[in-house]
Amino acid sequence: MKRVLLAVLPVVMCAVVAQAELTGNPIPIGIGVAQTGNVALLGQEEVDGAKLAEKYFNANGGINGTPFKLIFQDTGGDEAGAINSFQNLINRDKVVGIVGPTLSQQAFSADPIANRAKVPVIGPSNTAKGIPQIGEYVGRVSAPVAIVAPNALKQAMKETPGIKKVAVLYAQNDAFNTSESGTFQETVKKMGLQIATLQKFQTTDTDFTSQVTAVLGANVDLAIVSGLAADGGNLVKQLRQLGYKGPIVGGNGLNTAKVFPVCGQYCDGIIIAQAYSPSAKNPVNDALAAEYRAKYKAEPPQFTAQAFTAVQVFVEALRKVEAVTKKKITQLDLAKVREELNKQIRVGSYITPLGKISLDQEGEIHQENFYVAKIKMEADGKSGKFVFVK
Ligand code: ALA
Repeated sequence: MKRVLLAVLPVVMCAVVAQAELTGNPIPIGIGVAQTGNVALLGQEEVDGAKLAEKYFNANGGINGTPFKLIFQDTGGDEAGAINSFQNLINRDKVVGIVGPTLSQQAFSADPIANRAKVPVIGPSNTAKGIPQIGEYVGRVSAPVAIVAPNALKQAMKETPGIKKVAVLYAQNDAFNTSESGTFQETVKKMGLQIATLQKFQTTDTDFTSQVTAVLGANVDLAIVSGLAADGGNLVKQLRQLGYKGPIVGGNGLNTAKVFPVCGQYCDGIIIAQAYSPSAKNPVNDALAAEYRAKYKAEPPQFTAQAFTAVQVFVEALRKVEAVTKKKITQLDLAKVREELNKQIRVGSYITPLGKISLDQEGEIHQENFYVAKIKMEADGKSGKFVFVK
């Protein structure tokens, strides 16, 4: 007991001392993600990641001795909510920058508002094609579909030799799912496979009988689903219930343990590409993973790691702003902070839970490592986990 205490004490002391040393008014960073509604299945994991980053980086010196605080504004799952949240963060809360929104569909509406106001945005999970091109103040730490999605398909081919005919299904009312499905379709063709049926649905749909009937009728060897957690999970469930037995590749919208209650036992076996691995080795990821496991008794999910990373990029870039201007953020005019921060975000690299990353001049992420996981459900059909296969 004594020895354990002695071993733990220096770490605890260190964190306490570092926190106590922070002085001055906290620097506000906005978090505009989905905290309510169906999209909160993804957004809540981002809230968790942002909060862990706030605790971790304030315990490690904040912004060169000044604390920062996160200001949360729920976007809900639609465009209007994201616009409203961004406007509040920019004009009322006077944040230096914004992490958000959750969906690409929301980003295409809300990001132009931040861009016009010259407020830097870092998308934690916007993976559709064209996000960084929204404007010079828009960047992301979520690698685009073109880079991530094909990895799942390659894994499916490896696991199930002889795949020839494929069903592609996607939520056509959602920008990210449309974009991701485009990548899947291109990759399928490049691999010399045949798209035997292409089925569309809406993120608000709950009955997928007609799509499933078409898939079964086409007698395919693989089904690829691009949907969000609620609709995508239900579609997988109905595919299995109506008799589809082949492999299923799911897109980024299904990349959450929150999908387990939606498809239950039928989630088992879904192959999903990952931009994050909880076991990636570096001090920041070790800290995030340890903290997450202690708090939630589970492995940290990708959306959590990406939101953590987005906050980290803001923190490190704010430190660089102080170095370059030789002034404290709190002494600078807000417009100047936002402008300089946007520049510094794009300078140098960051060692993050996602590994070593950088953002180019356009705001696009450059990331080195990608993975693939498979959902493994327990016999109870309720709990499950993502097992990394690559
Ligand atoms: N990756 C999803 C999107 O971009 C959540 O909308």
